[in-house]
Amino acid sequence: MSKPIEIAGPIDWPDPGQIPAIQPVHDLVVVWRIDLDHGIDPADDTTEPGDDLTVLSADERTRAARFVRARDRRRFARCRASLRQILGECLGRDPASLAFAAGGHGKPLLAPEPGGTTHATRFNVSHSAGLALIAVGQDHELGVDLERIRPITEMDRIIENYFTPDEFASFRALTETQRAMTFARGWTRKEAIMKARGVGLAGLSSGAATGFGEGSLMPRFTPSGMVVGFAIWEAAVAPGFVAALAVEAATM
Ligand SMILES: CC(C)(COP(=O)(O)OP(=O)(O)OC[C@H]1O[C@@H](n2cnc3c(N)ncnc32)[C@H](O)[C@@H]1OP(=O)(O)O)[C@@H](O)C(=O)NCCC(=O)NCCS
Repeated sequence: MSKPIEIAGPIDWPDPGQIPAIQPVHDLVVVWRIDLDHGIDPADDTTEPGDDLTVLSADERTRAARFVRARDRRRFARCRASLRQILGECLGRDPASLAFAAGGHGKPLLAPEPGGTTHATRFNVSHSAGLALIAVGQDHELGVDLERIRPITEMDRIIENYFTPDEFASFRALTETQRAMTFARGWTRKEAIMKARGVGLAGLSSGAATGFGEGSLMPRFTPSGMVVGFAIWEAAVAPGFVAALAVEAATM
């Protein structure tokens, strides 16, 4: 029988003093939290990405440049630079030398080494406003999703289309004040599973109940059930944000 998966985090990056295991370890998933506006006023829409660009590939720099707003260019560059630095530390590699490939539906993964060796390290990224999460593990496929809790006009339509009839009925029975939080939790759970499977939004369906989570959220990731072969953890990773992590075929 496999060992239960342990989750560490969220842990702020960069904060090497607190790193439990920067090397990817079997049965441990570390979730890093990145302040994409670190040292900069979040409202500042003129400061361009700085040193972060130096570790990015030419394609990533082109992608950064395509954003219309300086703040989005800066946040994208910070997120990609952090991903490269974290994976570089994990693998003992120069962050700028890492190459990425895409799975069938575009899920980013580490490109195989020149000899064809596939990496056992798994990672997934989510960003929302000025915050990002990067989950890193070994062997187990994983997905992470982060959402800022905010009013969404079409909550009922989305739940009706992408959740089961029973889930829709329980959502409609909620009070107005419960709805935004419940929606955000339900959506992050579903997206984390789709991102673990690598199918992205193309995988949306109302075929399987993924749930809305139960009980209060903690700042750290806590177990929240098994859904279609994935173990789910949830956390209130910062005020106004919820996150879910899905890890394939894990026991808790
Ligand atoms: C992946 C996807 C679910 C992201 O949803 P989101 O909530 O908007 O964004 P998140 O911040 O949670 O995740 C974005 C990150 O997920 C990762 N990602 C991209 N495609 C992914 C996939 N198929 N599976 C898992 N992770 C994926 C990337 O690291 C991306 O970061 P980047 O934008 O900096 O490159 C969504 O964009 C998607 O389904 N993409 C697939 C392609 C597609 O359908 N495109 C048409 C869009 S109209």
